[in-house]
Amino acid sequence: MPNIAYVNGRFLPLEEATVSIEDRGFQFGDGVYEVIRVYGGLPFRLPEHLSRLVQSMQAVSISPFLDHEKWDAIIREGLQRSTYLECKVYIQVTRGVAPRDHLFPEVSNPTLVMTFREMADLPRHLVEQGVAVVTRPDLRWARCSIKSLNLLPNLLAKQEANQAGAFEAILIKDGLVTEGTSSNVVLVKGSALLTPPLSDQLLAGVTRQAVLELAKSNGIGVEERAVREEELGQADELFLIGTTIEVLSISTLNGKSVGIKAPGEMTIRLREKFHDLVYRKL
Ligand SMILES: Cc1ncc(COP(=O)(O)O)c(C=O)c1O
Repeated sequence: MPNIAYVNGRFLPLEEATVSIEDRGFQFGDGVYEVIRVYGGLPFRLPEHLSRLVQSMQAVSISPFLDHEKWDAIIREGLQRSTYLECKVYIQVTRGVAPRDHLFPEVSNPTLVMTFREMADLPRHLVEQGVAVVTRPDLRWARCSIKSLNLLPNLLAKQEANQAGAFEAILIKDGLVTEGTSSNVVLVKGSALLTPPLSDQLLAGVTRQAVLELAKSNGIGVEERAVREEELGQADELFLIGTTIEVLSISTLNGKSVGIKAPGEMTIRLREKFHDLVYRKL
């Protein structure tokens, strides 16, 4: 079967999958989501993604209706049906279908949608040359640690980045770096990494956690502290991290070159270590 979807208990071809126009996800963005990368048929850090999904659901008062084993079983069945070894699993949970009203329905019946799509490697030129980024104001709400469906400010900033010829926008709030529109941001200073600490201002990236663990286990220093916007321009290297981009070098920031060369040595090293980790070579 090619790309497939799962909608409230049923697997079907992606193009046949639908939800009601009265779904609160469609009406209000009233829901949360996850994206999981599958390498060689094995989901990377599935328990961490599922824990974050359940936390996001709880944070918006959608009662977790499946335990980890059930989530796991659906995902594994989807992977089997799709036959993909390299793919991306998207999970979306909304507060379900109800007549449009800002108040929650008295009884809500959450909608669960998953898609299973084949993933190609990132285009080589992005990996080998690094990507351009621009800074943009962070116009999002105060609870960005929730992986909510409400992505409009992220989309607007990403679109602006694209129009400026850049791959990603790094978001700035009160003079401090928060994250990318769909990525976390890491600076390399000397032989150590620097990244903003976890807070309500950014998503606790599963890739972020993995990369920081890799750094620590390889004797690379890691500092998690507030990062001022101007520090971006002073970094020796900059890179983005996220489920679909993995570890991706930044070559230019607002049109200016970053460091001596991109990708820098640390970025290359961590990208390689990350690949060893996801393909279970570590
Ligand atoms: C806003 C934002 N920050 C960070 C990330 C990276 O998180 P992860 O590594 O779990 O994919 C994402 C991923 O989509 C994101 O949307």
